Amino acid sequence: MKKSLFIVIEGLDGSGKSTSGKRLAEVLEERFQAKVLTTYEPHNPSCGGDYIRQVLTKKITQFRPRTLALAFAANRLDHCDREIIPWLESGNNRIVLSDRYYLSSLVYQSTEDFPMASVLKINELALKPDLIFFLNVSNEVCYERMKKRNLPPELFEENLEEIRRKYLAAVEFLRSEHGENIVEIDGNGTVDQVVESMIQHLTSQP
Ligand code: TYD
Repeated sequence: MKKSLFIVIEGLDGSGKSTSGKRLAEVLEERFQAKVLTTYEPHNPSCGGDYIRQVLTKKITQFRPRTLALAFAANRLDHCDREIIPWLESGNNRIVLSDRYYLSSLVYQSTEDFPMASVLKINELALKPDLIFFLNVSNEVCYERMKKRNLPPELFEENLEEIRRKYLAAVEFLRSEHGENIVEIDGNGTVDQVVESMIQHLTSQP
């Protein structure tokens, strides 16, 4: 495995990002003796994290979508500077595994008058991941998993079909316009199956 590796896991709400991320981290530590930092976005301890959380839980309802996009970009840059980059530079065999990153901003913050290219532009200083796993899961499985959490729906948790369409467009956009390494993983199976497909991909990389 490389000296250090920055991996992002992306997918719709309920696609199993955090569960499979946690398991993947354990496997990377056990089988490859990697030192793994598992993290997530929006990152509460980073810049603007509280503001973002309040918007997502609908406690703040009066906001300009552009403000939210800028808040996510600032949150990410601070997350990079104080968590992600220091971890990757702290020694050999370091891995950062982030649950969501700028692909999410392209999906949720782009609009007709603020297209994906503009969202990417305000994220230009964020460290480029080595690899993005996109967990693709059917709408039925997403809804089932969200129901089990038994929490009130957050701001972007409805209209999965529209979000899926934007995910596929954002994956295409980042691949073609930004040379991003994005691997689609079938997330409908068990956690172990999902994690094994990720490991298989990682170990088959040159
Ligand atoms: P989620 O992964 O569901 O976290 P939690 O389980 O803690 O609620 O993410 C929260 C929401 O944040 C999700 O609906 C997508 C949204 N989001 C954006 O709108 N833009 C971004 O850049 C990121 C990282 C997340």
